[in-house]
Amino acid sequence: MQWAPFFFFSLLPFSSTFLAEAAGPCTAIKGANKGLVLGVYTTEKDEKAAQFTKAGDAFDRVVSGKLKELLSVSGPPLKKGKARIFHSLHQNFSSVVVVGLGKKGAGVNEQENWNEDKENIRAAVAAGCRQVQDLEFPYVEVDPCGDPQAAAEGAILGLYEYDEFKQKKKPAIEVQLHGSDGVEAWQKGLSYAQGQNLARTLMEGPANHITPTRFAAVIEEKLRSASSNVTVHIRDRAWIEAQEMRSFLSVAKGSEEPPVFLEIHYHGSNDAKEAPLVFVGKGITFDSGGISIKPASGMDAMRADMGGAATISSAIVTAAQLKLPINLIGLAPLCENLPSGKANKPGDVVKARNGKTIQIDNTDAEGRLVLADALDYAHSFNPRAIIDAATLTGAMDVALGSAATGVFTNSHQLWNQLFEASIVTGDRVWRMPLYEHYTKQVTESQLADLNNIGKYRSGGACTAAAFLKEFVTAPHWAHLDIAGVMENKDEVPYLRKGMAGRPTRTLVEFATRLSQDKKSI
Ligand SMILES: *[C@@H]1O[C@H](CO)[C@@H](O)[C@H](O)[C@H]1NC(C)=O
Ligand SMILES: *[C@@H]1O[C@H](CO)[C@@H](O)[C@H](O)[C@H]1NC(C)=O
Ligand SMILES: [Zn+2]
Repeated sequence: MQWAPFFFFSLLPFSSTFLAEAAGPCTAIKGANKGLVLGVYTTEKDEKAAQFTKAGDAFDRVVSGKLKELLSVSGPPLKKGKARIFHSLHQNFSSVVVVGLGKKGAGVNEQENWNEDKENIRAAVAAGCRQVQDLEFPYVEVDPCGDPQAAAEGAILGLYEYDEFKQKKKPAIEVQLHGSDGVEAWQKGLSYAQGQNLARTLMEGPANHITPTRFAAVIEEKLRSASSNVTVHIRDRAWIEAQEMRSFLSVAKGSEEPPVFLEIHYHGSNDAKEAPLVFVGKGITFDSGGISIKPASGMDAMRADMGGAATISSAIVTAAQLKLPINLIGLAPLCENLPSGKANKPGDVVKARNGKTIQIDNTDAEGRLVLADALDYAHSFNPRAIIDAATLTGAMDVALGSAATGVFTNSHQLWNQLFEASIVTGDRVWRMPLYEHYTKQVTESQLADLNNIGKYRSGGACTAAAFLKEFVTAPHWAHLDIAGVMENKDEVPYLRKGMAGRPTRTLVEFATRLSQDKKSI
């Protein structure tokens, strides 16, 4: 059955019964059990014929125009992000999935603030790869669709599913580039997406498994296998005490689980003395709220309250894999926030590493307490810029939802670089204010220099950022509130439901740009 005398197509996913029947003859074919994903653009109304990508055109020629023919008789033109599957078209592939890429050459959408071509490719390739995954084929070849990096990202991000603790796992599927064009960009896309998937795995991981100690061990292992130009310090409680990080410790002491201050260095610049870019990530491996305890419903998601630590660490692992010529440091205060006889109590006062005192009126606003000391410590490296990421406030989610990470920054240059990076990755950022207006609402405290919650309910993401600003003197600092983008329901089509690992790719892209442009910041 090298060449089927007829062509089978369907708009519906195949039932397992059909698969069982098909498996017999197909296994006899060389290259069977492999799917091919090919892109097709949306054509103008009056054009009947499908407009394939370069790879799609080439394949259609090999099968004497059969694919184009089948596509046109199988239904209306493929809408963007939709997939349609055809079988037995060519001996190399059991199935060919055609995916809709939308309008060709859509470019940067100034209103959406992203590159629409790239975003369309990610979504379409993800949809196509999932169809092949559902058929349980061990291999899928992917059309680079004119942008191998975006295609690789769509494939690797789209296929990802967290099933670490399930006995029944999704069968493994290997993603391959179709053709030999753009191997380097393809590899880069694989790295970017694998970086984001690492963050997703850490965030999704249950809190009894991904403890501060385990988190640090995973990152150490990944970083050391990515490059030998790395240094990893897994700082223990004694070190944290010696550093006088009492604000961080006040949160950690509510739990039996030992805290860790993770410090990772990647030395990629030819100039060892080049000022490093420092990433800081909030690493609350479980946030119950502490004495100001959260409602029970949805509390399980608080295993991902270390999303800041996960995304910044994964970004550094990826940068090391890509051998970026830049010096990077990652800092992650890791601990649990639990209620206990030793936990912070509302009204408690602690002194942070920089000497400022903090009245803790809400123990659930613990992220800023651990970040305060980490941000102060970040200054000891004489950094080129400091970027922190934190699932900091529910108010951020209320403000922007999952569309974009909120960025609070004292630097236009830094903002511009982050913004440009996010247009490319499609994992967007949106600038938020760092006004004195908000500072006043956290510096008027009855007992201390600062209060860990704002005087008023309004603008909670902004008062949190204003609080962090009290621990920053560096001229280029950005705080990324990632609470809104922590989890994906169905908003990003190429991510399945679950912890999103955002904005890892934007951080990597940002570091890539900074490594190429030594003078920008
Ligand atoms: C089919 O596979 C062979 C052997 O790997 C390869 O040379 C050929 O280019 C493939 N054809 C298509 C259409 O992918
Ligand atoms: C380490 O970094 C230097 C540049 O500082 C680079 O030349 C070298 O290739 C790197 N080594 C590895 C193993 O990545
Ligand atoms: Zn909290």
